[in-house]
Amino acid sequence: MRVGVFDSGVGGLSVVKSLLEHKLFEEIIYFGDTARVPYGVKDQNTIIRYSLEALEFFKNFDIDLLITACNTVSAYALDEMRLHSEYDVIGVVEPGVLALKNAIADTDASILILGTKATVKSGAYEKGLNELGYNNLNAKATGLLVPIVEEGLYEGEVLESVLHHYFGDLNTTPDAIILGCTHFPLISGAIERYFEGKSTLIHSGEAIVEYLEKHYDFTTRYEHTECKFFASENPEGLRRTAKIWLGETL
Ligand code: DGL
Repeated sequence: MRVGVFDSGVGGLSVVKSLLEHKLFEEIIYFGDTARVPYGVKDQNTIIRYSLEALEFFKNFDIDLLITACNTVSAYALDEMRLHSEYDVIGVVEPGVLALKNAIADTDASILILGTKATVKSGAYEKGLNELGYNNLNAKATGLLVPIVEEGLYEGEVLESVLHHYFGDLNTTPDAIILGCTHFPLISGAIERYFEGKSTLIHSGEAIVEYLEKHYDFTTRYEHTECKFFASENPEGLRRTAKIWLGETL
């Protein structure tokens, strides 16, 4: 099976990492819209327009399935993308909600949703969680963490102070945290430490693997996956980041 992975930039590589670890695909075609990242501060119409333009890119390839690794795209543009494509288009919000349900049975559990401004504004995670009976929710737009990850600051003083900036006012430690942004799995260690290991973290990459394995028939596991990385700007930079982030899985 050949899969396309779309993200606003390099962040979706965190989802690719999970796909590679589980050896699900014969080929992965990745497209990051690095010329126009970040999407998380843009409005709905722009996010939808950019996402439909990304579909044009994937017309150059014979893919069986498209994963939108970007939470912001998943929150706003899935319906339109599905209308305009012949293959399945899967986002990360629904898998994230289902992964939360599988991890936390208690519907009174306190859940902290982290994402970009746009993702939080969409209320997409809250809607999905409410439908499953989870109502003890708190969503925080933590967009500053995106450039911090892009800078490679996966730990240290700058990251610690931004975590404090966003979480310092929380009265209680959340039972679970949804990492509702492609970049946040890269700093999951620091987030986990900040909450002293007491919160269960939900990672889009792992969530999507769980979802795919449930909904598709993966009889073959691929020891080697052919990966092709494309970007709307500085593809070399994206390929370099892919080597660093994906390391041995590549
Ligand atoms: N990929 C985006 C997301 O997961 C984060 C970066 C951006 O704002 O474009 O929401």
